[in-house]
Amino acid sequence: TKSEEEKLLDWLTDLDGVPLVKDIASNVRKLDGFNTRHDDIYIVSYPKSGTTWVSELAYNIVHKLDIPKAKSKPLDERVPYLEWVHSNHHQLESMPHSTPRIIKSHLPLKLLPNSITNGKHKIVYIMRNPRDVCVSYYHFTKMIQMVGYNGEFSNFFDLFLVGSVAYGSWPSHVQEYYTYSLSSGASSNVLFITYEELVKDPIKTIEKLAQFLDTPLSSEQLQLLSYMCSFSSMKNNPSSNYQWLAVSGFLKDDAQFLRKGTVGDWQNHFSPDMASSLDSLLADSIKDDGLLKLIDY
Ligand code: A3P
Repeated sequence: TKSEEEKLLDWLTDLDGVPLVKDIASNVRKLDGFNTRHDDIYIVSYPKSGTTWVSELAYNIVHKLDIPKAKSKPLDERVPYLEWVHSNHHQLESMPHSTPRIIKSHLPLKLLPNSITNGKHKIVYIMRNPRDVCVSYYHFTKMIQMVGYNGEFSNFFDLFLVGSVAYGSWPSHVQEYYTYSLSSGASSNVLFITYEELVKDPIKTIEKLAQFLDTPLSSEQLQLLSYMCSFSSMKNNPSSNYQWLAVSGFLKDDAQFLRKGTVGDWQNHFSPDMASSLDSLLADSIKDDGLLKLIDY
């Protein structure tokens, strides 16, 4: 019989040195020649970093807090997942031209289509501290029906540490995008934000996001949006809580995609040894002090 970790590894394949879910890897191969639009907005992150939160925020900013519109469709139709939907790329092609498309991706920089990285499209990159990412990723992986994974956290942690989880190494993912965001200079088309700053100061961070998206909001709008996209509002909102993934059978019946939404849950899962192993990995693999300082437990 297979160990729990073997079940996980069997679900993945390697694409240019990056482990990916098999279906996703075959979709990525089809993304060559992907047609961008000049006003596209890309929401990019390592999995479990707050992508859903920032996607809902960006959608509401671009649509100027049109609440009925935001509630009319599930989030993954409003903000599609690049490497997931491309097998049926009509979804992306048929999105209206009247407002910018907002598209999310977890691909590492080297696998993102050239048409995106060579262009001047707006990219919002969200980083979350890797300890909480690992915990969130562990719980999420256990929710996936078809994998049937029920391993111990310490074993999942070992896979995360060596980058043997979907989308690969956390330090490489963030380092590459951080360098890319710096190289785009003062008129940067890349906004680098963190999950922790959104938790600590949502209004200020949402304001920064809105300015980056060229849609400044009034202080009333900022308050309203911060409230609408709070953890509990999103969890209770059927158009943003991803419950449809349980209804469709992708996640288990009792899965809660919006699980906890806090900073520091790693303290309930990590041993001191795990914390120091991850810190050593970061010290060895992240060369940029500016980036190291942004990692906030
Ligand atoms: P937890 O598992 O720690 O609760 P992603 O969207 O990139 O998959 O990230 C999912 C993580 O973001 C989950 O973390 C989820 O609860 C959290 N999250 C989603 N929406 C949030 C919100 N509005 N406020 C705070 N955290 C949120």
